[in-house]
Amino acid sequence: MESKGTPDKKQRVGIITRNFFLHIHATRVHVHSMKPTYTFGLGIILGFLFLVMVFTGVILMIYYTPSVETAYQSVKDIVNIVPGGRIIRNMHRWASQGMIIVVFLHLIRVFYTGSYLGNRSLNWVIGVVLLIITLLSNFSGYLLPWDQLAYWAVTIGSNIAASARELTDLLGITNWLDPGGFLKKLLIGGEVVGQPALSRFFALHVIFLPLTMLVLMGIHFWRIRKDGGLSRPAKYASDKGGENKWYAWPVLMWTELALLLLVVVVVLFVAVVADAPLLEKANPVFPENPAKSPWYFLGIQELVSYSAFAGGMLVPLLYLVFLFSIPYRDREDRYVGEWFSGKQGTTIVMRSALFALLLVVIQLVVIIRFGWLRDWFPGISQWFVMLINPATITAGFFVVVAEWIHWKTRSTRMAALVLFTCSMVALVIFTVVGIWFRGPNWEFYWSVNQWPVI
Ligand code: HEM
Repeated sequence: MESKGTPDKKQRVGIITRNFFLHIHATRVHVHSMKPTYTFGLGIILGFLFLVMVFTGVILMIYYTPSVETAYQSVKDIVNIVPGGRIIRNMHRWASQGMIIVVFLHLIRVFYTGSYLGNRSLNWVIGVVLLIITLLSNFSGYLLPWDQLAYWAVTIGSNIAASARELTDLLGITNWLDPGGFLKKLLIGGEVVGQPALSRFFALHVIFLPLTMLVLMGIHFWRIRKDGGLSRPAKYASDKGGENKWYAWPVLMWTELALLLLVVVVVLFVAVVADAPLLEKANPVFPENPAKSPWYFLGIQELVSYSAFAGGMLVPLLYLVFLFSIPYRDREDRYVGEWFSGKQGTTIVMRSALFALLLVVIQLVVIIRFGWLRDWFPGISQWFVMLINPATITAGFFVVVAEWIHWKTRSTRMAALVLFTCSMVALVIFTVVGIWFRGPNWEFYWSVNQWPVI
């Protein structure tokens, strides 16, 4: 029954279809998609964080100058002189960190609800590209303040890009074929971080990456509509009559507006209580020790400390191949919309997480307590160090266990659950170790208080 003053069905459809912004939704949305515990609103939160980034970024651009002589001072002025500049800079910084966390949470929710299955494979692939662009956007912004933190983090990042050199050096072909050097040069425009790097990062950060992201987001949202709305369990799949559908106007619209407000308030609150870091001006002759890449790449930096090629190139590339190919390897769409693919999947996920935890922690204990091949056999060939290290051992074990589960259950979905869960757990552990337990010279320390005074 419609109460007086409430738009009737026809009006609700009209409100959505006539309005450009509301048009992002179908006029009616399945009741299952409205369940907060299905999506946790993560995709929408990502979109809103992006808006906060663009809004604050445009304001920052008015004062920021992308030159190695003036960049640092311009950021200092934004913080200390421009009215509200400190808050705007903090909001920009914290929203960007929020995006990284939320994009991974969104990836995890989409994966565990099997939402890449069926006709949603293309949208998953677009999502993986969005994930990469989110990371690159952050990384390119990291250099802009041109302080010690930025300079050395990007120096480390660009060295990771050059990690293929470990392999080409071993093959003795670096003079002829140097993909690592090429990648590094492409990224920073030279051998060391300087003005060409700052100009490149600025152009990437303010034009190329945000525009690409905007276009891809548009396609991402459009695909959701084309794919028949959000994924849902098979029992709701053929709800053709629409008996379980709600009008998107007004409930969904108001809920999303409230979420936007919440996102802005949370970002603003964090920006008020915590300042984005700004160390002293970049000094290319005084490296930070430890020099750490941005926190979201510290898992990779930890792997690079075992072997540059295996940790910085091989394993991350294999992981990307895995992410891109999941929907094309796993076609078991009976699991669409079901968290962890039911009871069997839940058990497999829990056991995989435990297995990955034990495997990674045991290796870390061994390596920290007893060292690795080079400590035991100083003259050992670098080939062995490159091929046998925690990065390759971890990845190898995960693949073997996933294959074994595939063989046992005859299910690609179960194997995918193993690989995805194990790699997420490993990524988190390596990242945590890189953030909190690595100090000068990449040695292990329980806390920063134990770091030697250098
Ligand atoms: C900036 C990055 C991204 C934005 C703004 C974004 C936005 C959204 C939104 C608003 C939704 C619908 C609501 C929801 O599921 O929460 C959605 C769904 C979806 N996203 Fe993303 N997303 C991003 C990244 C990703 C990533 C990294 C993946 C996976 C690799 C992904 C894959 C998908 C898929 C497959 C759906 C459909 C889910 C379903 O039908 O249940 N997205 N995304």
